[in-house]
Amino acid sequence: MEKIMEGLNIKKTLHSVKKYIVLSFLCLLLLCIYTGYLSGPQALTTMNHTNFWNHSVSGSRNVTILLWYWPFGYVTSLQGDVCWDLYHIPRCRLVDQHSMFSSADVVVFHNRELIQGIQKLPLDLPRPQGQRWAWLSLESPANNGNLQQYANIFNMTMTYRRNADIILPYGMLVPQETEGQLVEDVTQNKSSLVCWVVSNYQSHHRRSQVYHELLSVVPVKVYGKWTNTNLPSSDLLPTISRCYFYLAFENSVAKDYITEKLWWNAYQGGAVPVVLGPSVSDYKAVAPPNSFIHVDDFASVKDLGRYLVELAKDKKRYSEYFTWRQHWKVKRLVEWRERLCKICVHYDSLPQHRVYSNLMDWVNAN
Ligand SMILES: *[C@@H]1O[C@H](CO)[C@@H](O)[C@H](O)[C@H]1NC(C)=O
Ligand SMILES: *[C@@H]1O[C@H](CO)[C@@H](O)[C@H](O)[C@H]1NC(C)=O
Ligand SMILES: *[C@@H]1O[C@H](CO)[C@@H](O)[C@H](O)[C@H]1NC(C)=O
Ligand SMILES: *[C@@H]1O[C@H](CO)[C@@H](O)[C@H](O)[C@H]1NC(C)=O
Repeated sequence: MEKIMEGLNIKKTLHSVKKYIVLSFLCLLLLCIYTGYLSGPQALTTMNHTNFWNHSVSGSRNVTILLWYWPFGYVTSLQGDVCWDLYHIPRCRLVDQHSMFSSADVVVFHNRELIQGIQKLPLDLPRPQGQRWAWLSLESPANNGNLQQYANIFNMTMTYRRNADIILPYGMLVPQETEGQLVEDVTQNKSSLVCWVVSNYQSHHRRSQVYHELLSVVPVKVYGKWTNTNLPSSDLLPTISRCYFYLAFENSVAKDYITEKLWWNAYQGGAVPVVLGPSVSDYKAVAPPNSFIHVDDFASVKDLGRYLVELAKDKKRYSEYFTWRQHWKVKRLVEWRERLCKICVHYDSLPQHRVYSNLMDWVNAN
């Protein structure tokens, strides 16, 4: 009996809801006709301006991004419409004043200063509804510190990982507008077979073991702090350009962690990168085809060494590692402002509700 009554009640409710919808629709229609009738095209333009039928979250208003403190304390100007002026990204306001907290759509926190205890999260402030807190880091998991304390705090991630909400790679490929000219002889100025620039040498790093094994097969020229042969930054690329191969060995082996060692040192320097870092498929997903040599593609480091020697002798095959340059060029992402503006590009497709309940697990996942 109770069940039947409930059923009837639901029907009644549904009926009145339907009535309500029909009535609201009629009212709205009348309103439109009324305003349209009175003021003609004017009223329609006004409707367009208020974006009445546009369901995008941000619509035509600015999205406000509040950077809670500058990464590494390095402050840059936010004068003017930065995202538009520098990157042609519209409706994006970057601010760094804490007084803007209550009107910010996104508040960004750079991980380094949090884990060092230099900066704190404003956990005492009431979070406005809909505001998102973003966790920002470009470090590998090994250098992010203990993230256990940041469970259930952040709504979005900004990092180099391809599954981040805002993907911030160290570099990326962009198509060449006009077909690029290929260098006639890419081996012209090359005098060293393999080069490596290393400042932070640690014997337990996998890359150190690979280096020593490789050294038993081929000569490797080493530069950097470790060997007391530091290169001024103006000498870096010219030096690398004189090498057939450049060891773009990451200091951490972690999912998607591919840094400027590939994007800048090797590609920009014009040496073929020998890479050690994430999996072959991670590299293939972002780097140009046939542009790099992955350590894991060889049964042994000695095999790799022998391959490099053979390849350097074969000018034609060696040159094929540069053909991608006809169609692609490398763009690096180096400015914090550009990284922040990127939030606005993806703002409307962020999930409506998301909490990183275990940031540590997310960061460490493979
Ligand atoms: C909604 O507004 C955005 C931003 O103004 C615009 O890019 C988009 O094309 C609009 N969509 C529709 C369906 O009008
Ligand atoms: C959006 O922000 C920019 C940069 O701060 C500003 O110049 C512009 O007037 C703002 N537009 C709106 C509609 O608030
Ligand atoms: C070799 O060096 C010369 C002189 O610096 C330069 O003009 C030329 O472009 C270089 N060739 C290549 C392939 O980098
Ligand atoms: C952001 O995270 C907080 C804290 O867990 C949560 O209360 C809030 O609903 C989240 N907001 C969004 C837009 O996901």
